[in-house]
Amino acid sequence: MLVLGVETSCDETSLAVLKDGAIVSLRVASQEALHRPTGGVVPEAAARRHLEVIRFEAEAALAQAGQDVSDLDAVAYTRGPGLLGCLLVGSSFGQGLARSLGIPAVGVNHVLAHVHAALFDQAPAFPLLALVVSGGHTSLFRFRGPIEVELLGQTRDDAAGEALDKVARLLDLGYPGGAALERLAESAQGEGILFPDVRLAGARPDFSFSGLKTAARQVIASGAPGPEVARGFQRAVVGQLVETTLKALMPTDRMLVVGGGVSANRTLRRAVRERLRSVPVLLAPLPLCADNAAMIGRLGWEMLRAGIETPLGTPVRARLETLT
Ligand code: KG4
Ligand code: ZN
Repeated sequence: MLVLGVETSCDETSLAVLKDGAIVSLRVASQEALHRPTGGVVPEAAARRHLEVIRFEAEAALAQAGQDVSDLDAVAYTRGPGLLGCLLVGSSFGQGLARSLGIPAVGVNHVLAHVHAALFDQAPAFPLLALVVSGGHTSLFRFRGPIEVELLGQTRDDAAGEALDKVARLLDLGYPGGAALERLAESAQGEGILFPDVRLAGARPDFSFSGLKTAARQVIASGAPGPEVARGFQRAVVGQLVETTLKALMPTDRMLVVGGGVSANRTLRRAVRERLRSVPVLLAPLPLCADNAAMIGRLGWEMLRAGIETPLGTPVRARLETLT
């Protein structure tokens, strides 16, 4: 089955061609330069840019795959969560293309797709625990099959990436700042500032990063050196991610999967491997950590194989916590 994946939920216009769930071509047009001057994504500007480039990117993805548009068997696009205007561009394009070709379209949950980004190279074993850690989301799921999923916990305030980006901004590292903060942390001479060890009480494996962010603001205002702040803050964020994941892990879980933009962080990748030794750990490959259409095409393919299609006229969702 030849699937075109379409991702436009935030600031990447990404198109991919997948054959039977494997990547044939992948294009990611980042809007980073467009949004850098404003220090964050301007939704209206993002949606316009998606609209300008989506057709070109789709044609380029097909050309790179050596396929004609008429070869497509289905289109998978991001239905949510994300910025409404941005989602509308991808869903209109995906649904319109599918309708014109007389093939099915499927609307995909972007957060769940971040988990599938880790499943290209290795077959998953179920049930598995999955951590998605990105600029917009920090969530733990249990998958009992490729599309049988339960939300276990999530952040009660900021996403981990959002907190990293905000602290990076306070340190004048630009936007998005997660990767720059990681580099600054590596230049620290000492062990880094000690931040409080935040772990929420209660049975739900939820996260909270806003208190840490406030602490970082105060420490920066008091004149602490940037590299020490970066190192300590990153350690605190990673510590909470890893310990909360450990709390959610059940003896019956056969695997841990980690995906999302922040999963590119080396300190996090190392900490996950060191702290969660009782299960095989699958980390999204670096090129597929951030937003991309390959993961959308992959989850869409799994949904299509299970007989799920999304009818024309189905609304996009800024918030979407279920599979469909
Ligand atoms: O998954 P993603 O591309 O977009 C969302 O769905 O949100 O994640 C983007 C986030 C940003 O917050 C960015 O700062 C963070 O991922 N990020 C990193 C690193 N690379 C990207 N955070 C920490 N360390 C990195 N190396
Ligand atoms: Zn994402």
